[in-house]
Amino acid sequence: MANMLVNQDHLLSKIATNNGHAENSPYFDGWKAYDTDPYHPTQNPNGVIQMGLAENQLSFDLVQEWIINNPKASICTAEGANDFRDIAIFQDYHGLPEFRNAVAKFMEKVRGNRVQFDPARIVMSGGATGAQETLAFCLADPGDAFLVPTPYYPGNDRDLTWRTGVQLIPVVCHSSSDFKLTRESLESAYNKARESNIKVKGLLLNNPSNPLGTVLDRETLQESLNFIMEKNIHLICDEIYSATVFGQPGFVSISEIVQENPQCNLNLIHIVYSLSKDLGFPGFRVGIVYSYNDTVVNCARKMSSFGLVSTQTQHLIANMLSDDVFVDRFLTESSEKLGARHDIISKGLAQVGIGSLKSNAGLYCWMDLRRLLKEATFEAELELWRVIVNEVRLNVSPGASFHCSEPGWFRVCFANMDDETMSVALARIHKFVMQKKGVETSAKKQCRRIKLEISLSFRRLDEISTNSPMSSPLVRT
Ligand SMILES: Cc1ncc(COP(=O)(O)O)c(C=O)c1O
Repeated sequence: MANMLVNQDHLLSKIATNNGHAENSPYFDGWKAYDTDPYHPTQNPNGVIQMGLAENQLSFDLVQEWIINNPKASICTAEGANDFRDIAIFQDYHGLPEFRNAVAKFMEKVRGNRVQFDPARIVMSGGATGAQETLAFCLADPGDAFLVPTPYYPGNDRDLTWRTGVQLIPVVCHSSSDFKLTRESLESAYNKARESNIKVKGLLLNNPSNPLGTVLDRETLQESLNFIMEKNIHLICDEIYSATVFGQPGFVSISEIVQENPQCNLNLIHIVYSLSKDLGFPGFRVGIVYSYNDTVVNCARKMSSFGLVSTQTQHLIANMLSDDVFVDRFLTESSEKLGARHDIISKGLAQVGIGSLKSNAGLYCWMDLRRLLKEATFEAELELWRVIVNEVRLNVSPGASFHCSEPGWFRVCFANMDDETMSVALARIHKFVMQKKGVETSAKKQCRRIKLEISLSFRRLDEISTNSPMSSPLVRT
């Protein structure tokens, strides 16, 4: 491995030697802190608790139950072994027809069956990660850009840009309006890019949002559609968290808005999806490009050879998602569990005066620690984050890594741990805030004492100066 440290810039490609993977951002640093000292209730009770991972682990009992009750769906069981051969030799990049049908049906169900998806447009990829890159390859050339509202998922910087040479341009959203996307901010980002001679090829939305945990409302989606139609650029909607919505307002997919706008240019609309969040299977690498553009479907399908989902996984997922009873139960119970967990964490934070953005989706809270910053800078945010990781022993993610425009916001994931770990995490936050308050109170008390002493000593000085025979000539004048 020592070889890796040698500078090989002249030997290797730009991709191999640049930092496009963005692995050294604090977002990934926190993971490293967790990896070197992970929390375990008995073996390492003082270890770091992982709250930087947007994983949905709350409904695995349901999945496990289904797996046990459906042994034929797994081709490595006595009941499923008969299908092994056919599944193992299948290598068509269109994917198993039953897989595409089941995924299309599942996507419809998650959207309340208000829209239909054509299985012929379902293109596989290695997770949403692969789907984003495939779309970037299909829609843009190196140097072209996509607009992305802030704060946004840090992986976008890697997925859309690293190997494609495409760039991302932030559309700045503000906490004063709950980070709502406005036409004004879209226009401003677009115009700035144009002034720098950058060709804007599209707008990337993430609905529901990571890290905000909020859904885009109908008006914002309509406004975004109007915007991209006017500029004649693409709209990519990453709807990877669509089934994590646990409260009102409900989720509205771009597919519904498109359906309500028959005049819209369908060639510009593309959806990114994956089973990593809604089902909680990031390890399966089931990603989907759903494009309304025939040429994109065609090209993306050819590109999918570089990141196919294994047929064994397709076979299992096809069976699981075709089971309506299971899917209905999973969707209902999963969102109830996420809602309950969200309640626990947001109320737990509120108990010690920590606010978080009002949210109704996702696997995380967007926590407001602006009050705890020494000053309103990203340096201060990083300093606070280091204390939280190294002393409080929680790996949360600082807002800077999501390109948040204001320091002091942190994303805290809550669905990747059991109830006990959640309460340990909350207890640590409580202790930290109380200690900080204690320090602040004693600092305030000390400050008040110092002020009192100063004013007393001034009074004494006054007394001395007015009564003293040696009073200053200035005082006399
Ligand atoms: C908004 C968003 N898009 C895409 C991804 C990548 O997902 P996948 O595991 O399916 O590649 C993530 C993962 O955290 C995400 O949060």
